[in-house]
Amino acid sequence: MTTGSPTPDVPKRTHTCGELGLADDGAQVVLDGWVGAVRDLGGLTFLQLRDRFGSTQVVLSDTADESGDLTPADIRAEAVLSIRGTVRARPEDQRKGDGTGAIEVEASSWSRLSACEPLPFDLSLRTASHEETRLTHRYLDLRRPALMGNLVLRHRAMQVARRELDGLGFLEVETPVLTRSTPEGARDFLVPSRISRGEFYALPQSPQLFKQLLMVAGVDRYMQFVRCFRDEDLRADRQPEFTQIDLEMSFVTEDDVMAVAERLMVALWRECLGVELPTPFPRMAHAEAMARYGSDKPDLRFGMELLDGDGLGEIRFDFVRNAIADGGILRAMVLPGGAARSRKQLDALTERAKQLGLGGLLWAKIAEDRWTGPGAKGFAEDFQAAVVERTGATAGDLFLAATGESAVVLTAMDRLRRELAAEHDLIPAGTFACAWIVDFPLVEYDEEADRHVAMHHPFTRPLDEDLALLDSEPGKVRARAYDLVVNGVELGGGSLRIHEPELQDRMFRALGIGEEEAADKFGFLRRALSYGAPPHGGLAFGFDRMVAMMAGTEAIRDVIAFPKTTSASCPMTAAPSTVDPAQLTELGLSLVRD
Ligand code: AMO
Repeated sequence: MTTGSPTPDVPKRTHTCGELGLADDGAQVVLDGWVGAVRDLGGLTFLQLRDRFGSTQVVLSDTADESGDLTPADIRAEAVLSIRGTVRARPEDQRKGDGTGAIEVEASSWSRLSACEPLPFDLSLRTASHEETRLTHRYLDLRRPALMGNLVLRHRAMQVARRELDGLGFLEVETPVLTRSTPEGARDFLVPSRISRGEFYALPQSPQLFKQLLMVAGVDRYMQFVRCFRDEDLRADRQPEFTQIDLEMSFVTEDDVMAVAERLMVALWRECLGVELPTPFPRMAHAEAMARYGSDKPDLRFGMELLDGDGLGEIRFDFVRNAIADGGILRAMVLPGGAARSRKQLDALTERAKQLGLGGLLWAKIAEDRWTGPGAKGFAEDFQAAVVERTGATAGDLFLAATGESAVVLTAMDRLRRELAAEHDLIPAGTFACAWIVDFPLVEYDEEADRHVAMHHPFTRPLDEDLALLDSEPGKVRARAYDLVVNGVELGGGSLRIHEPELQDRMFRALGIGEEEAADKFGFLRRALSYGAPPHGGLAFGFDRMVAMMAGTEAIRDVIAFPKTTSASCPMTAAPSTVDPAQLTELGLSLVRD
């Protein structure tokens, strides 16, 4: 066994770059690391030597390196150096804290372990325009303390979650990656089989069916940090492959699953952020969330709730009355302090509303005596008084309203509510508003497919009292499903499951899945359910979203070591890529060119 340095003639490091402090004053040390900022002060060179653990200031006098070939003037940012020297306390007025910021290392000798080519981007700057370049050289971007910190946070969260769930009796079980389609509402990624030509595996959108089968097997409490694959339109909070903390439990009600999820959240927030989350998290019915916020993932850190304008009072605008008579809705909200917006800002707001699909936005400034602005005359005094009474609006606030088709108005008003709250600094920093959204509809109507589709997935249990409606009016059946929403982000979702084969058959029928299709796609599940399936339920957390929230970023790629771009590609490895024609032939595939 060798115990020396990996590089001949260079001494092994004695400390990391985050380890030294005043207590080490006078010590002889060896540090290895990357060169951060370099300053040449005529005869003395100051540089920051950085590794994962921290950064230490090093002072080099005009000495050549160990080989005698290099001088301090040859030192470039991001080269890898080994420094031997003496720890010195910095003058008191120059100390930053009492860690490495309080000392520096006066080098007696140094060597360069690795040179660094001119950098493709400046690591010290963070500009979005370099995103593609940064992803191409992700290993460089990861050197930035902010991104490295995210990896450390992710690791910490993983350890906390594993320990917590282990303590609660969960068994970590791995499930296949090469499998067949599990419907979670996205397209599948397919993998062609060489051995069974013309046949395909699907990468799992989630391990949903496997975890249910593990309950039939008697595992009782299952957990897994698991990669899921979904071919869907990407956004800041979506990646084609992402990680879930996946849970399933036997002999439970939704209260039991929620209690475990809350324990996990509390442990994570306490140990990773030092924040105490109050429990139990409040619960809100899906219908109430839609009515009050226009969203099934409301941000509850601030007010600005939506008001149903229908029935509030006299509406004088014909077009609004007509829209309502035609089955549309009128939704309003009050922006505190919004009357201070300039005409230009108000016009921009109307433009934004149009971008979001609204025909326009009605606005009125609320003053002591009367409302002013183009929207004011459309709403009689009784309507205005009702708005003030319901919202507590005061002079200086801005009334906003939109009318039209329900889904469009709700989506747009939810978006405006969140955007305006951010713009007007109405969202308290450092707070976490957690809530369970419950009583989801079991199914929703898919216009394109002209049939009902599962809102969660087809294995979700209907509410017992709504069961009678499953065959006749599935749209009215509620599900025993629950989503965990934090600050307007869906961090997790789950449900109690159907464990009776007959009920699963009825569910497939309600979804317009014929007997043959059900037998072909889910026959193995149905069979398993017929061999003594325990009542069970579970939940999956979006782990990337969870860590992103703890890290204070909206983009989950910031907490993933090697993420994909929004076009689902990896600029570093150039994946996806074309393949050798011979590989296609072997798989029995040929490409159709457009
Ligand atoms: P669901 O589909 O709601 O449930 O997924 C669970 C959680 O995973 C996260 N998530 C994503 N994160 C990043 N990128 C994506 N493309 C993405 N899609 C989903 C979300 C979401 O809340 N099998 C069920 C769970 C169950 O019923 O137990 C499931 O996968 O945070």
